[in-house]
Amino acid sequence: MTIKVNFFNFFNLIKNMFSAFDANELGLNKHHWKVAYVSYLLGDELGLTEFEKNDLIYLGMIHDIGVLPWGKDDHLINLIGEEEFEHCLRGYNFLKNTYFDQYAPVILSHHDHFKGKNKTGLAGKEIPLFSRIIYLADRVAFFFQDNMHPLLVKDKVVEKIVSGKNILFDPEIVDVFLVVAETEDFWLTLGDGDILNQSLNIHPGQHRWLEIDEVISIAQLFAKIIDHKSHFTFYHSQLIAEVAKFAGEIFGFNLEERKALEVAGLLHDLGKLTVPEEILEKPAALSREEFSVIKQHTFYTYYWLIDVFLRRLSAPLLFITRNLTVVVIPLRKKVKKFLYKNGF
Ligand SMILES: [Fe+2]
Ligand SMILES: [Fe+2]
Ligand SMILES: [Fe+2]
Repeated sequence: MTIKVNFFNFFNLIKNMFSAFDANELGLNKHHWKVAYVSYLLGDELGLTEFEKNDLIYLGMIHDIGVLPWGKDDHLINLIGEEEFEHCLRGYNFLKNTYFDQYAPVILSHHDHFKGKNKTGLAGKEIPLFSRIIYLADRVAFFFQDNMHPLLVKDKVVEKIVSGKNILFDPEIVDVFLVVAETEDFWLTLGDGDILNQSLNIHPGQHRWLEIDEVISIAQLFAKIIDHKSHFTFYHSQLIAEVAKFAGEIFGFNLEERKALEVAGLLHDLGKLTVPEEILEKPAALSREEFSVIKQHTFYTYYWLIDVFLRRLSAPLLFITRNLTVVVIPLRKKVKKFLYKNGF
């Protein structure tokens, strides 16, 4: 079995995941999509290559990966002082040594002020170019309010960005933004989730194939995010991935099949991103309504992954989600020994 995954589908998964985060952020819906879209246009106007513009789309999508907990309506709004840097640092640590390793320094500096005095120690053009772009795009998305007509918000957003020129933002990028902001098309796209989605899908560089080891690396990053959502499930996805690999060994699966099992284990709880932390963390018994929300996570996992892997991973995924306990229970002694040996 050879698993090759089109990165385009993985990109869709990233989009789905981050819209799940946004769904819990009152008034900040599609924040990540907006940042990706604005960053891409800024990069275009700056004359960056297609490859660099694609990077900006992914960076825009994942830039707030370090914001914890998700599901708090004021969390992305009040990112000031200590907390502002904390989420950058957490994001940096999430991305370090993963498929997105080269993005880590960009995320670390994505709230750096152009004039300096940043915890990163950087100022002006020392701040990575992508960070300077993402920061301005982030503030545009933040100042853009969905409850007003997009063409009426325009002047207010432009005024705020211009007032930060040389202080918060790179003056060159502010000038480029003023060009982008001239078209009504730009503002109307920001105000329409469907058209925004469509605009993010048309850029060409997304179509490339990932090898299974790259898929594992991305899946490990997602597992970290999923497991950080609740302290009850810390390392849970990583643990399931280890057990799944081990079970695969016992059943004589070949190396690629075992790698597929590892991916399935890492991602099996992806749909938990749609469940608010207050439900995941609730110390008391869940109400019927809360239990229904919990139950939806398997549904989202299945449909998000089927989009990425088509049917390729469905067998190991079903193996994990439906049969793992049946397989593991008779083998529990071996599994226990394995877990102990591996420090779980
Ligand atoms: Fe941020
Ligand atoms: Fe943000
Ligand atoms: Fe699970």
